[in-house]
Amino acid sequence: MMNLLTCLVLISSIVESQALANYRNIESCLGQNDNRNPVIIDTDADVDDLWAILYLIKVPTVNILAITTVGDGYSSPFFSTSNILSFLGLINCSYGIPVASGQSVPMMSSGWNIDPKILNSIDTYLTSPTCLNQSVDIFLQPSPFEAVELIIFTLKYSSKPVDILVLGPMTNIAEAIIRDRSIVPKIGTIYVSGGQFKSMSAYSSLIPNPKLGTYPYLRKTSDSSDNVFLDVLSVQRVDDSGVRQLVAMPSIVQNQLPTNLTQLNMKLRELNLDLDPFTYKLITSLAKCGNQNESEIFWRVWDNSAAQLMVQMQNNLTNGFCTKIQNVKSLYILSANADQLYGQGISDSPRNAMKINGFSDYKICTETNSDVFLTEFLTRIHSGQLHSCKNSYNDRFDIKLQQCLKKYAFN
Ligand SMILES: *[C@@H]1O[C@H](CO)[C@@H](O)[C@H](O)[C@H]1NC(C)=O
Ligand SMILES: *[C@@H]1O[C@H](CO)[C@@H](O)[C@H](O)[C@H]1NC(C)=O
Ligand SMILES: *[C@@H]1O[C@H](CO)[C@@H](O)[C@H](O)[C@H]1NC(C)=O
Ligand SMILES: *[C@@H]1O[C@H](CO)[C@@H](O)[C@H](O)[C@H]1NC(C)=O
Ligand SMILES: *[C@@H]1O[C@H](CO)[C@@H](O)[C@H](O)[C@H]1NC(C)=O
Repeated sequence: MMNLLTCLVLISSIVESQALANYRNIESCLGQNDNRNPVIIDTDADVDDLWAILYLIKVPTVNILAITTVGDGYSSPFFSTSNILSFLGLINCSYGIPVASGQSVPMMSSGWNIDPKILNSIDTYLTSPTCLNQSVDIFLQPSPFEAVELIIFTLKYSSKPVDILVLGPMTNIAEAIIRDRSIVPKIGTIYVSGGQFKSMSAYSSLIPNPKLGTYPYLRKTSDSSDNVFLDVLSVQRVDDSGVRQLVAMPSIVQNQLPTNLTQLNMKLRELNLDLDPFTYKLITSLAKCGNQNESEIFWRVWDNSAAQLMVQMQNNLTNGFCTKIQNVKSLYILSANADQLYGQGISDSPRNAMKINGFSDYKICTETNSDVFLTEFLTRIHSGQLHSCKNSYNDRFDIKLQQCLKKYAFN
């Protein structure tokens, strides 16, 4: 006669093999025979995020599985998702890519708020009559999945590791990892736009100085990266999750890239590229549409540089715009009154590193070639191919996932 223990072991192994069978069924139901690099783009829907998305949709080696939004960065919660949907509609990519709405509150607020005037000009960038003056398709809907949920399911059932490009605060990614640690091995590389990595020796003092500002902060501490500062605890959670690889395009290096429209226009002429009016206005209206007191020729490149770095590294390009990649060890400091270190990474192993545990390994781009950068960006956004928009609504990753889960997950 079978004893109780043997019986329990048998039942649990039946349950386990049933779970594994369901898992395999869902994985194959999704029909993943695409040899492009699967990517999730997590975004705060700022204007430069739109540039990065437009660029990536047109890269033939990238397969955008989902765009997930956060509402705690450079757009207000209501607009983060709707602007991405509107944008996809305007570039003729309606329904092709899932857009999932996610977290709108940081894990820990720095206390610093983005100027409402800046948020307003970003929120209305596409539609304001004084800006791009576009009419948008209000019937475009977000994914049936919430962003964190979609990140978890996508990673869980992907047949291969998925890269994540983070263009805003890391709130969604941290939340996904917290809810389900088992996704960590399925994350390929996390590519980060921003971050600040400084040598320990660059700090005049490591003694907390409350005079520099006390938590919660009214303004961002000098040099720190916006995306990090807005939710430093999320960055710390993701950094320390044990993820395979972290790559950053630090803010300071982004600022070395072209900064005026004269350069942009010269490059377009040199390459003999004629962008369609919408795309041209999209990438040249930052100063015109913003409330920033910037000159008309002001132009900056932020998030699309992280997107381009991802493409360069995914393809092991030797002639990419990032000409130097450095391996660093990083640690984000959370000490509430060590103002100058709040939200900043450390890029080296200082003398006393032997006493410090918990460094995470980053690859960071430290030198760039602006010419190569602009050429790649403009050539790509000029090309007509919307590679990541080929799927119909029913073949979209999230809609298929919904069907496959219904079929296999719950029986
Ligand atoms: C989208 O498609 C319409 C109609 O085919 C076309 O007029 C428009 O130029 C396209 N927009 C972009 C940004 O490609
Ligand atoms: C905005 O677009 C509308 C409709 O296409 C047009 O009537 C209006 O003149 C435009 N406004 C500006 C300021 O260009
Ligand atoms: C634009 O940038 C280029 C290259 O840095 C510089 O030579 C030029 O003076 C700038 N133009 C203006 C109008 O600032
Ligand atoms: C904007 O720039 C003008 C001219 O440089 C300057 O006089 C003005 O004070 C600036 N305004 C703000 C709000 O910074
Ligand atoms: C790039 O190099 C990595 C590591 O050596 C390798 O796994 C990957 O297949 C390469 N990718 C391409 C597109 O050659």
